[in-house]
Amino acid sequence: MKDFDLSKTVIRGIRESDLDSIVGIEEKNLGLKRKGYWQRELKKNQEGRYLGSVVAELEGKVIGFILGDIGSREFGMPENMGWIHTVGVHPDYQHRGVARKLFEDYKEKFLKLDVDFVYTIVSLSDNMQLPFFEKIGFRQGNRIYLELDIRKEPPVGDKLTDFDYRRIM
Ligand SMILES: CC(C)(COP(=O)(O)OP(=O)(O)OC[C@H]1O[C@@H](n2cnc3c(N)ncnc32)[C@H](O)[C@@H]1OP(=O)(O)O)[C@@H](O)C(=O)NCCC(=O)NCCS
Repeated sequence: MKDFDLSKTVIRGIRESDLDSIVGIEEKNLGLKRKGYWQRELKKNQEGRYLGSVVAELEGKVIGFILGDIGSREFGMPENMGWIHTVGVHPDYQHRGVARKLFEDYKEKFLKLDVDFVYTIVSLSDNMQLPFFEKIGFRQGNRIYLELDIRKEPPVGDKLTDFDYRRIM
């Protein structure tokens, strides 16, 4: 872990030249190289997305990033909702407040856009993101996300659904 002064970290909007650094940080953290994903996100920023992605820069080097959005595309959700899609900090700079600082900047942006609630999806077994989001104030909401593998046939039959079971219990 590197020793550094958090107050020297500058939070600024993403630039095209940041792409390789961001992709590199994600690869270190997740073992995934998502250049296409970030190119698409950058394009959305350039097309005038409400909430651009921001990065944390220390002495000219990108050490972290956050990406989110606002919108009400999700059925039944409030209109003034914010989303955090991804947040990442270079492993050498983690646990020093960089992600919290990125989120604080984002929170200001959300508030200016009249967002009340911010959502994110995290696996219950994710021992990095879950404690982080809880530490910065997120709590489990009263909605669940549902998923369907559309490459497979959906389950059929007249058996009770999970919803029925929950109602009975
Ligand atoms: C999760 C992640 C973004 C946190 O970044 P970070 O800069 O280390 O986080 P911060 O230092 O700002 O932490 C803020 C608070 O969360 C806590 N926290 C952060 N990571 C934690 C962890 N793994 N376990 C427990 N607490 C954690 C910190 O202790 C801190 O609490 P404090 O303010 O009481 O001291 C970073 O660890 C990361 O990039 N992880 C891997 C990538 C990843 O999973 N990205 C998401 C892909 S969608």
